[in-house]
Amino acid sequence: MRSWKIVLGMCLVSGLAQAQAPIERLKATQSDPAALRSAIDAGKKVTFFCANCHGEDGVSKLPEVPNLAGQNPAYLLEQIRKFGSGERKDAFMQGLIKVLKDEERIQAAAYYASMPVPPTKADAALVPKGKELFSKLCVRCHGDKAHGNDAIARLAGQKLPYLQTTITRYRDQTGIRNNQLMAIATSTLKNDDITAIAHYLTQLP
Ligand code: HEC
Ligand code: HEC
Repeated sequence: MRSWKIVLGMCLVSGLAQAQAPIERLKATQSDPAALRSAIDAGKKVTFFCANCHGEDGVSKLPEVPNLAGQNPAYLLEQIRKFGSGERKDAFMQGLIKVLKDEERIQAAAYYASMPVPPTKADAALVPKGKELFSKLCVRCHGDKAHGNDAIARLAGQKLPYLQTTITRYRDQTGIRNNQLMAIATSTLKNDDITAIAHYLTQLP
């Protein structure tokens, strides 16, 4: 009699865990060091295929492919959700991400977030202008080190061409990246401004 109650209780608890949104499960994982460690280990295996483009440690060798290393895990999870729902467009990523279960998405996000991202070389002549524009238009959301926060992307150390392409897409409202805050924040930027900001951001540690 008692064991039935325990089994029933366990079913209810695991049912609740299933029903919890991935973002809540990520937070629970982050607050438990042992669970986080095993999610990171599992994430390394889950992402073996992703490494073809995003690099083994999440540092991409392809200019148009973003680094995932050092990125905020909640932001990664949200972008994976957006590819899955079609709110963010990329033919390859949209197809690929559908095969990942919620648990694997959380593990991938935890793994990449745990890896360091190195700053890269930039044109030093463009950096001061980029810094000035960033301080004026971007810092209040992305933070003074461009490390972002839970909901907002880290930009420091990101790939230069990816930054340029992405900022331009938000400004031009092409429908590939959809975010109202970013469309507004970038609306006044000229192409030269975008280039300067990208050079500033890519060399930040
Ligand atoms: C064939 C190359 C390729 C493979 C393999 C690949 N990706 Fe991507 N991924 C891309 C490209 C290209 C983008 C950028 C798309 C864009 O321009 O918005 C991207 C973007 C992302 C982003 C958004 C990053 C950001 O800064 O917004 C995440 C998260 C991501 N990929 C996760 C994964 C995961 C997890 C896997 C493995 C399951 C994977 N990718 C496999 C090419 C790839
Ligand atoms: C009001 C808050 C806000 C401001 C101001 C802002 N951003 Fe963002 N930014 C966001 C949010 C939220 C996202 C995630 C949007 C999404 O899901 O596509 C984002 C995403 C980005 C990304 C995509 C990162 C990636 O990994 O794909 C880039 C690049 C970016 N912002 C650059 C900038 C620049 C440059 C400025 C200043 C000109 C700026 N942002 C100002 C909120 C802001």
